[in-house]
Amino acid sequence: MMMKTSIVLATLGCAGLAATTVEAQGPQVQRGQAFAQAQCAGCHAVGRSGESPLRSAPPFRTLHIRYPVENLAESLAEGIMTAHPAMPQFRLEAGEIGDFLAYLKTLER
Ligand code: HEC
Repeated sequence: MMMKTSIVLATLGCAGLAATTVEAQGPQVQRGQAFAQAQCAGCHAVGRSGESPLRSAPPFRTLHIRYPVENLAESLAEGIMTAHPAMPQFRLEAGEIGDFLAYLKTLER
């Protein structure tokens, strides 16, 4: 537990993200953000602004426009996902999904 926390903090520090906003949101959101930053940011824009590094990958802040982000829980558990060969298969642990969705929620505001 302690170790995980320090990894998250280190990741946030490196990424130079708006750590103050995230701190206010609790550890779940922090873990979710760190996860997105580590696993997904190579292709997706994971923050509140900016374009995706890979143009065809939708910025995470736009996902909720197309469907409630809760809908992603199942596909994240089964291994993402449908019809895009450009995206590697991911299979998330239940805890990671909760964290990730909590973080996505913060992008909707
Ligand atoms: C190697 C590049 C790459 C990485 C890494 C990547 N993605 Fe993607 N992702 C894509 C692309 C490209 C698309 C768009 C594919 C399409 O629309 O056909 C996409 C689409 C998506 C979608 C939208 C799917 C839909 O049909 O609405 C979600 C959700 C998603 N990615 C989640 C993630 C998550 C979560 C991670 C990290 C665990 C991640 N992606 C990492 C390339 C990537």
